[in-house]
Amino acid sequence: MTHPSSSSFETRPLSAALGVEVRGADLAGPDAEAQWDELHRLFLAHHVLCIRDQKLEPESQLAFARRFGRPEIHPIVEGTDEHPEVVRVFKPAGESASFGVGWHTDNSFFAEPSLGSILYGVTIPPVGGDTLYANQELAWDALSPALQERLMGLHGVHSASRAYDPATTGTAKYEGKASIRYRWSDSIREEVVHPVVRTHPETGRRSLYVNPMFTLRIAELHEGEGRALLGFLFEHCARPEFQARLRWEPGTVAVWDNRCVWHYAMDDYRDHDRLMMRVTIAGDRPV
Ligand code: SIN
Repeated sequence: MTHPSSSSFETRPLSAALGVEVRGADLAGPDAEAQWDELHRLFLAHHVLCIRDQKLEPESQLAFARRFGRPEIHPIVEGTDEHPEVVRVFKPAGESASFGVGWHTDNSFFAEPSLGSILYGVTIPPVGGDTLYANQELAWDALSPALQERLMGLHGVHSASRAYDPATTGTAKYEGKASIRYRWSDSIREEVVHPVVRTHPETGRRSLYVNPMFTLRIAELHEGEGRALLGFLFEHCARPEFQARLRWEPGTVAVWDNRCVWHYAMDDYRDHDRLMMRVTIAGDRPV
C-alpha cells in the first residue's frame, strides 16, 4: 500500500502508530538541501523515519545529523577515533548484543537528553535484528484524564546505572566483547530529574517520558508507590498498538524523535553479524 501525497518521496507508514518508510531521498547528494524541509515535516509527523537506499560515510552522516542539531559525544560509549560522535554499534556472530536491548529513550539520563538518533545500517543479518519503536504520545493520550492529571506534577529520576554500571548489570554483559568500547566513570551513577510528562518543543504535543532502562524511581513518591506506578507505566507504554517494527536493509537510515518515542533493539540474530553506525543529536531540557 503506497500512499501518493504531495511529498516528493514515496512514503508508506511503518504501522498505524508511528513511523514512515521513505524512498527517493538523497541524504548525502545534491538534492539533500532541497529535500530537507519535507523530510523534517515527515519526522515531526511520524516520529520515526526509515529512509531506504542510502550510502553514507561518517562525514555525510554527521552532515545530515547537523540539519537537526549538534551531534553529541557519548560520555560512556566511545565513538570512532576519527569521529568521536559516531558510534559503531557492532555485534559479531556468536555474541549476544549488549547495546540498546530493552525499551528506552536514548540518554534520558542526560540533563538535556538527546533530541534524536540516526542509525545507519551497514551489515544486516538475513533475519532478525529489527528495531521496535513505541509512540509515547499515544501512550499519554490513552490514559484516563484522572491519571493524566496526577502524573502532571510528578518527576522521574533517571540514571545510566541500571544499563551501564557493571555492578548492576553484571559483568557478563561486557565480558569478552571488544565490539563496542565503553568508558566507565562515577558519572554513570549520577541522577537527573525530568517531568514524567513532557511537552514536545516543536509540536507542543504531550507524551510520557519515563523508560525502563533509565528511569529508576519517581521523585515525589515512596519507593514502593513509585515502583508500582512505573511498573504500570512501563507495561502501558509498550502496548502493541503503540508500536512499529523496522526491518533493516543495508543502506537503511533510521531517524527517531527521542522526545516522544521509545525503541528496542532485538537480540535475535546470534549467528550473524550486525553493524550499525549511530549518531545522537543534542536535545534540550524536558518541560
Ligand atoms: C540504540 O538503542 O540506539 C540501538 C538500536 C539498534 O541497534 O537497533
